[in-house]
Amino acid sequence: MPRISNLFFKAAIIFLIVGIGIGLHMSISQNHNVIGAHAHINLLGWVTSALFGGYYALNPAKAERRLAFIHFGVYTTGVVLMAVSLYFLLQGVTALEPVVALSSLIVFAGVLIFAWTVFSRDTETVTRKASLA
Ligand code: HEM
Ligand code: HEM
Repeated sequence: MPRISNLFFKAAIIFLIVGIGIGLHMSISQNHNVIGAHAHINLLGWVTSALFGGYYALNPAKAERRLAFIHFGVYTTGVVLMAVSLYFLLQGVTALEPVVALSSLIVFAGVLIFAWTVFSRDTETVTRKASLA
């Protein structure tokens, strides 16, 4: 597995453990006020990070690019910041609202980097075509 896929899966499983931990705490306490943090840690953290890891595993040439590591750094920083700030915002710490907004934009920037990668040409395919010509 490419190193970047491994990194995404390591981050993803940590998000899943934290996300499920919050889900269990909500269920046991019967207080669902942090539902938004639970949903987004699981969906942005676990599901989306694992999808990114899977994409890079299927595209080894793109997995070696420096941009893949920038994507990981930006996206994961955004989700960690969003997870912590959203959790405490939903617990009533309203001063954290700007941090939630900023972290959402960082997550979005990570997604745009990934979009660039998806639409960019696969250098391995280009090289293979050139060597066949
Ligand atoms: C053992 C694991 C889990 C437990 C105990 C748990 C618990 C909960 C609880 C108590 C709620 C609030 C329900 C409500 O107030 O309507 C909830 C909502 C939610 N959970 Fe989980 N959860 C778990 C795993 C997951 C996973 C793995 C995901 C995603 C991959 C997920 C996604 C969601 C979403 C999206 C919502 C919001 C649903 C809505 O808006 O109605 N949960 N969960
Ligand atoms: C930076 C990216 C995102 C932002 C800023 C965002 C923002 C929001 C907001 C403002 C809500 C309404 C919360 C409420 O009414 O209390 C929401 C709900 C929801 N979002 Fe997102 N979202 C993002 C990404 C995603 C992604 C990628 C998914 C799925 C893969 C997702 C799934 C959901 C679900 C299932 C709900 C309903 C559960 C809840 O009430 O928290 N979101 N989101």
